[in-house]
Amino acid sequence: MLHTFFTVLICTIGMNSWPTQATAESYTWHNEPTRWSSNSSAIMVHTNGETDFWRQTHYGFERDNGHFYYRSMDGEQSFTITVNVYGNYRAVYDQAGLMLRNDAHNWIKCGIEYVDGIYYASAVVTVNGWSDWSVVPLRQNPNSLRLRVKREREAVHIEYAESENHPFTMMRLAYLPLAKKTNPIMVGIMCASPNEKTDGFDVIFDELNITKNQSNDD
Ligand SMILES: *[C@@H]1O[C@H](CO)[C@@H](O)[C@H](O)[C@H]1NC(C)=O
Ligand SMILES: *[C@@H]1O[C@H](CO)[C@@H](O)[C@H](O)[C@H]1NC(C)=O
Ligand SMILES: *[C@@H]1O[C@H](CO)[C@@H](O)[C@H](O)[C@H]1NC(C)=O
Repeated sequence: MLHTFFTVLICTIGMNSWPTQATAESYTWHNEPTRWSSNSSAIMVHTNGETDFWRQTHYGFERDNGHFYYRSMDGEQSFTITVNVYGNYRAVYDQAGLMLRNDAHNWIKCGIEYVDGIYYASAVVTVNGWSDWSVVPLRQNPNSLRLRVKREREAVHIEYAESENHPFTMMRLAYLPLAKKTNPIMVGIMCASPNEKTDGFDVIFDELNITKNQSNDD
């Protein structure tokens, strides 16, 4: 009972206090985690276990129950997203970062992923229902991973930095087709704990910033 009350309480606080400044537009959860909260600059999540986003390739399964907190953008809009991710990764495949999504079969997730004791900058690009995963090992567990994703129509440019003060490294230039020009694209933070023997991990997303490319508005 106490646990339930606490969960309801932090969710209520979360919804009332964020977002306030850069993003008056409303954010929505795809698979809302049981435990999360937020303040004016950060979103704190404790992932639920057995959550993931994946389509078909190699493993043969499909998962679409990761946590994704997003807003919709005009599909024609170019924009740049930045965020700092601080995670207490514990179980194999614990992951957190950003997601861009047209629909369940066409999306990109990128960020940090923990695999067998190594931390990777990771990107999964899913087009027409097939996922393609690439990783770059990080030197160590970064205190924070800073991500910068620039999206210009179907081109998505993914960069990361191993802390807020490090320079960005390019990770991937990916293709994410526009399903229909008039369709919106969903953009936001994602996290997941695919492992079946975990009860999740804590992660903080700080300074999420989605900046529209103004010069593209015509
Ligand atoms: C978001 O990023 C843009 C571009 O770097 C910057 O001009 C703006 O001040 C940032 N907004 C916030 C709230 O940090
Ligand atoms: C928001 O929460 C984060 C993480 O707990 C904390 O570091 C930060 O200071 C908080 N910011 C404000 C404005 O309360
Ligand atoms: C904004 O869009 C214009 C036209 O598509 C492009 O030339 C420019 O590089 C873009 N700027 C940024 C910061 O993405």
